[in-house]
Amino acid sequence: MMKKYNFVLLTCLLSISGAFAAKMPMPADAPASYEAECASCHMAYPPGLLSEKSWQNVMSGLDKHFGTDASVDAKTRTEMTSWLVKNAATRQKYSETAPENRITKTSWFIRKHDEVKADVWKRASIKSPANCGACHIDAAKGVFSESNIKIPSK
Ligand code: HEC
Ligand code: HEC
Repeated sequence: MMKKYNFVLLTCLLSISGAFAAKMPMPADAPASYEAECASCHMAYPPGLLSEKSWQNVMSGLDKHFGTDASVDAKTRTEMTSWLVKNAATRQKYSETAPENRITKTSWFIRKHDEVKADVWKRASIKSPANCGACHIDAAKGVFSESNIKIPSK
């Protein structure tokens, strides 16, 4: 009896949290510098995908950014950092400090993607879990829901 009740409760909680995670739109007050500086090598990740601390870590290491130099001038960096921090993940589940400063290494990301097999991530049109838009066709609009996913076959 008790077991079944727990299961129903858990399912409920999971679907509520899923609904929250599925939409992560770019806040309307994004500084122009964010699109200009942070969307040339990959999509402009919505700030709600990482915690405050993780954004601070990302922004303080831009000269050594995943094997590239993504530095910006000091004024731009201050402006972007305070905006990212202000809009960072707040719900406890998503606010862990991300290993390696990666969204794709957070426990919620790994859990949500546990059905994606290792060889799928390596497909030519995907290449990396960080390439959200390869599968989430409306990622640029901050939509990550189940019904807006199309995994490329190659
Ligand atoms: C010169 C290219 C370049 C620029 C400019 C750049 N990045 Fe990146 N970024 C990368 C690369 C390469 C990776 C690793 C991608 C991968 O693993 O597939 C990365 C990864 C990331 C990740 C982690 C993705 C994951 O795996 O979860 C975050 C967060 C990030 N960048 C934020 C930013 C921010 C914020 C800016 C602007 C200040 C920025 N990037 C500008 C090249 C760049
Ligand atoms: C290989 C394709 C692929 C890539 C790349 C990918 N995802 Fe996903 N994503 C999926 C699949 C499949 C699911 C599970 C959908 C489901 O619930 O059945 C998922 C689920 C999610 C969910 C949960 C949605 C919900 O309704 O609960 C979020 C949030 C999410 N992804 C964000 C991201 C972000 C952010 C990135 C890039 C950093 C990314 N994904 C990269 C395939 C991908």
